[in-house]
Amino acid sequence: MIEKNIISTIKKLTSSLLKDSINQGEAERSINEIHAHFQQITEITGYDSQIEYMAAIPAAKGKALGLNFAAQCLLDYKRTIKFLKAIVSAIIEKQKKQPGKMVKVFYAGCGPYAPFITLVAPFFQPDEVQFSLLEINKNSVESAKKLIDSLKLSNYIKDFYIADAVTFKVPNSNSFDILISETLDALLYRECYVPILFNLLPQFNKDIVLIPENVLINLSFLPHSKEQSGYKEYEVGSVLNVRESVSAYSTSEPIPPKLPNKKIDMTSLDMNIYERFLLDTKVHIHSDIWLNRNESSLTIPLESILAQPFQHSSIIFTYFLEPEIELRCRFE
Ligand SMILES: C[S@@+](CC[C@H](N)C(=O)[O-])C[C@H]1O[C@@H](n2cnc3c(N)ncnc32)[C@H](O)[C@@H]1O
Repeated sequence: MIEKNIISTIKKLTSSLLKDSINQGEAERSINEIHAHFQQITEITGYDSQIEYMAAIPAAKGKALGLNFAAQCLLDYKRTIKFLKAIVSAIIEKQKKQPGKMVKVFYAGCGPYAPFITLVAPFFQPDEVQFSLLEINKNSVESAKKLIDSLKLSNYIKDFYIADAVTFKVPNSNSFDILISETLDALLYRECYVPILFNLLPQFNKDIVLIPENVLINLSFLPHSKEQSGYKEYEVGSVLNVRESVSAYSTSEPIPPKLPNKKIDMTSLDMNIYERFLLDTKVHIHSDIWLNRNESSLTIPLESILAQPFQHSSIIFTYFLEPEIELRCRFE
């Protein structure tokens, strides 16, 4: 039985995270404290050594993060804070648009702590917002259920499915207002965000609010040395825009094995001044909330050397969904 004061402490800590005035150190301390409570309640530390807790789980396309790593996501501080702010604002925006109507949230990939319900629901009444949860990992489902019950949040839950979001058919899909699926890694490597969008988005109403709203992978060229005067990163633009790519397919088509090539023509650039190229993952969470370079493990950039003398005229990027989920590039 969890004491009432633990529940109110968790709410107080979360509410401090939602304030713009909180500094990074205080925010990290608040999240660490929430994490300690979650660890104690669920008995999932995020660092247990059972293989079962470490192994990734194969989905129909891509892999779901192992339970330990899913638990540790809570400690990706800026990510967690920005997602919490985004989800609370998205619920309030929906309430304003449809006063008096219950806001229905579909949360695909909740992990063992399900933070986007366990930390969000207490700011609303159970007749204001209702969550349906889906998770591929049965151990995460058990843990999330235990936490939700302990925090006395069960009356916010409509359904809890153990299933693969890449293939799941959502019952009453057009009743939902918000879809949350933080199932991604830097460079959209291996995890299921893109195939999940291919499967789930067409099932919901057109005005469903997706969180994160979009992910872009942007290319830049970096000159020889930061120390030299005039050092300036040259931003080429996006080599992948997930929402644009997904919406280019008709909803009746199966998930494609790869997305169309994106060719970057470099014939007009003096490539000899560039030493490296850099790929940035930019996560557009909601409205003006973005996760930018190095703010999170999701947005760690990848840098690679450009062999000199540079003799190519283009780089071609292709995002594969089979046999593995990964972005590949080749020079021509
Ligand atoms: C990055 S973790 C995030 C966990 C939690 N939402 C959070 O923010 O802390 C992603 C979660 O999504 C689940 N997941 C990934 N792919 C999935 C899929 N295809 N179907 C269902 N769940 C999936 C993983 O098992 C994992 O628990």
